Amino acid sequence: MKKLSLPLIAALLVLSFAWLPASALTAQNPAPRERLSFDVGWKFHLGNEWGIGQRLDKAGSGRGPAGKSFSDASWRQVDLPHDWAIELPFDPHANASHGFRAVGEAFPANSVAWYRKVFTLPAADAGRRLWIELDGAFRNSTVFVNGWFVGHQDSGYGGARYDITDVANCGDSNVIAVQVDATQPEGWFYEGAGIYRHVWLVKTGPVALVPDSVFAYAEFAGNQPVGDATVHLQAEIANTLADQADTEVSWEITAPNGVVVARAHQAVSVRAGRNGDAAETTQVASPELWSPESPRLYTLTTVVRRGQEVVDRQQTEFGIRTIAFDANAGFLLNGKPYVIKGTCNHQDHAGVGAALPDRLQYFRIEKLKEMGSNAYRSSHNPPTTELLEACDRLGLLVMDENRILGSDSQHLQWLADLVRRDRNHASVVIWSLANEEFATQATPAGGRAAESMKRRLKLLDPTRPVTVNTDLGNVFEGVNAAVDVRGWSYHIGVENMDAYHAAHPTQPNIGSEQGSTVSTRGIYAADPVRGYVTAYDDNRQAWSNTAEEWWKFFDARPWLSGGFVWTGFDYRGEPTPYAWPCINSHFGVFDTCGFPKDNFWYYRAWWTTTPVLHVLPHWNWPGQEGRPIDVRALSNCDEVELYLNGKSLGRQAMPRDSELKWTVPYAAGTLAARGYKAGKLVVEAKTETTGPADAVQMVPDRPTIRADAKDVAIITVEITDAAGRVVPVANQSVAFTLEGPGRIIGVGNGDPSCHEPDVFFADPAVVVKPIEGWKWKGVPGSYNETLPELAEGFDDSSWAPAEVREENGALPANGQGIFRTQLKLNEADFKADAIELWFGKIEDNGALYVNGRKVSEVGDARAASIFEVKKFLHPGANSLALSLRTWGATGGISRGTNWRVITAAPAPQWSRSVFNGLAQLIIQSTSQPGEIKVHARADGLKATAITLHSAAATD
Ligand code: GAL
Repeated sequence: MKKLSLPLIAALLVLSFAWLPASALTAQNPAPRERLSFDVGWKFHLGNEWGIGQRLDKAGSGRGPAGKSFSDASWRQVDLPHDWAIELPFDPHANASHGFRAVGEAFPANSVAWYRKVFTLPAADAGRRLWIELDGAFRNSTVFVNGWFVGHQDSGYGGARYDITDVANCGDSNVIAVQVDATQPEGWFYEGAGIYRHVWLVKTGPVALVPDSVFAYAEFAGNQPVGDATVHLQAEIANTLADQADTEVSWEITAPNGVVVARAHQAVSVRAGRNGDAAETTQVASPELWSPESPRLYTLTTVVRRGQEVVDRQQTEFGIRTIAFDANAGFLLNGKPYVIKGTCNHQDHAGVGAALPDRLQYFRIEKLKEMGSNAYRSSHNPPTTELLEACDRLGLLVMDENRILGSDSQHLQWLADLVRRDRNHASVVIWSLANEEFATQATPAGGRAAESMKRRLKLLDPTRPVTVNTDLGNVFEGVNAAVDVRGWSYHIGVENMDAYHAAHPTQPNIGSEQGSTVSTRGIYAADPVRGYVTAYDDNRQAWSNTAEEWWKFFDARPWLSGGFVWTGFDYRGEPTPYAWPCINSHFGVFDTCGFPKDNFWYYRAWWTTTPVLHVLPHWNWPGQEGRPIDVRALSNCDEVELYLNGKSLGRQAMPRDSELKWTVPYAAGTLAARGYKAGKLVVEAKTETTGPADAVQMVPDRPTIRADAKDVAIITVEITDAAGRVVPVANQSVAFTLEGPGRIIGVGNGDPSCHEPDVFFADPAVVVKPIEGWKWKGVPGSYNETLPELAEGFDDSSWAPAEVREENGALPANGQGIFRTQLKLNEADFKADAIELWFGKIEDNGALYVNGRKVSEVGDARAASIFEVKKFLHPGANSLALSLRTWGATGGISRGTNWRVITAAPAPQWSRSVFNGLAQLIIQSTSQPGEIKVHARADGLKATAITLHSAAATD
């Protein structure tokens, strides 16, 4: 391994066949399949001065940034995933439900952007199939490679996979350009903007597994998980050769302990240019069952051979478990009733918007599990694959949700893509076809659309039921009659749920969306001006319920299968019950950073068996001595006794699924509680009056991260008193700096009304200078590159001046000519990172020469042309020459010209206020191992610094 190049090591890390001997992975003998991260090293530009990049008249001639020679030197460098919506200002006129960011129809300049990346492909890739995969771009993305249009995806939540084999340059450099248009929303919640999921470069042989064709699922006789499991194995092979390919597909199943436990194989002959199916079954004796409590995963290795040669190989994780929804017993996992204790979630997080590093998915799932949650609903759209991997590996059931109801071919295709992509995930136990389709859910057409979707889905996955989250009461029309499991959005109450169950006793049910309790972390007096509700479990909307109301109802009715709280985490947008200046939701049990609100302990109390005791509110009410304070205990103990400064305020019995209340006249000190089970003290809790703010502290989630430019440390920033206690009312601004191989990628504090930036960034500095003195001359045969008129020292003093600022250029129709001028540069200009030449319009075609050297072919009558030319220039006078020809109309250079001196901007200064004592800082590694030192300072407080270790993957 030691001798491998860095890119190859990176490739090995993401490959599914890392056990191959290193010698097999050389340029001469590349691995049969590579899946290389394509996240690093993009350029980004907000705005679209070039219109639609695709030309429909001529192939491979993408306009503006879509073209190969276009200069993106003035664009900002970004790594993916990236969400530009969080970089935009808040605007009271922007869409409230999307979080008041200045994006969307009313903000055209902020709603379309371009990404570009230059990459080289080794010559040895010739003959392989090459693919670009975009896991998710919000939205309406169009991809070009080397000026060729390669594909378009409307959906902001669907992946896209483009075969770029024909247009790629192997052994040379290539450019990928992606236009993303976030003008139109798909939902009524924050959705982000940009390439917010991973991008991959995938290389396979010409005979290879069809993407997402591998499927493994296990069955037991009678759906009872005893004895041997029959594992159904499927794959599809694509043959892009001109001859028939005789292949053998073999499957190998490795148990969680690393032992191979089953094998199968099948011969498949695939005609030229066709796909061929493979399907087999095998047995796994007494398998280890997957569950949230024991997330044991099997690995399927699928190998395709032609003769002795391995032509493809792929690994797929899957789980062996049984699931069922029963009309009376509710959900059954591995044959036993299993109450779903879930949360619905959108996909944004503090600091990073919709562009979550993978580690944040795990961080969020860990938080939910801490609460006792065992399920996740990816409302209201297909989740990213890494979220499902986190659920598979850490153990959380998933309701995997499609974005919208629709049985036209496009919507059925999106549904099929989702199901094919996600059907191997052990965590996924139910599909949701849609959410609250107000207009159609109770109509015959809605029912027929759901039927069609279900039919298509079951062909791809016969193992899981489907539901739709409907906000209907006792209504068995439309989609409710079409789905396997009735999904309940709110509408608790005997007249709805009990009546429905009685009327439709054979249909299982699930609480697919419940709660919608609103609360603000650390707030105990509503503040409509600042947009805060209290953190007591008191606040709900007309359609929704407190945590106690919904959970008590469901807990008493096992046939409902349990349910999903709206929501696990606060998200941007939907600032219910407020509007501006409130910019994010209050529905979460956690805030946008993942800091728990008090209801966390309600759920933890009733969703786990660990003794839980939590007292609220905080005990910092200076100046309010004697005021009666609403004190509550959240606990699963039989009894709780409360004390103020050592004096008992009484012991109360805890009703099931409830909370306890005391009214306590305020006196500074300690509010303590003791919890008893069966008369025995099992747990204690307290809340204390703190001293004034004294210091900033930082607590990382892990002291060591991986030096892979992807991993992140999630740091809790605290303001503490002299005794080290978090001051629950502190709101100071904290400034951050960092040294070493890492970078801050986002800050947040969970305050639903905070308008401070989540990210700090700076675009390169661009100094624009005019290019003067253009002259031109008609020159027949101008396509001859050896013309003396193109040379650096050519004497053009007798040429006619050329006006280049008009709408039309100086060249007559069907004319040929050369335009020349000089550019004078001083030594200081060469300190720039890049120097560009900018032309408003060049028509029709020809080439640009700097100091007699050809820079690029040129010609774009619709958009500005930009070329990076620093390497062609020298201090002093430089010659610029454009050799052009027109076709049928006048042309030349028009709409002005200038040159641009570009320098990288200095690193921005990061800061964020804490909200009620806490803030969050997200730090990402680079690919360099080392020590990352982070400093935090706040006016008047003791500063702090911490050191994170960023360890090489081989450490
Ligand atoms: C539901 C809807 C969610 C969210 C929620 C707020 O009706 O499905 O997306 O808007 O209300 O309570």
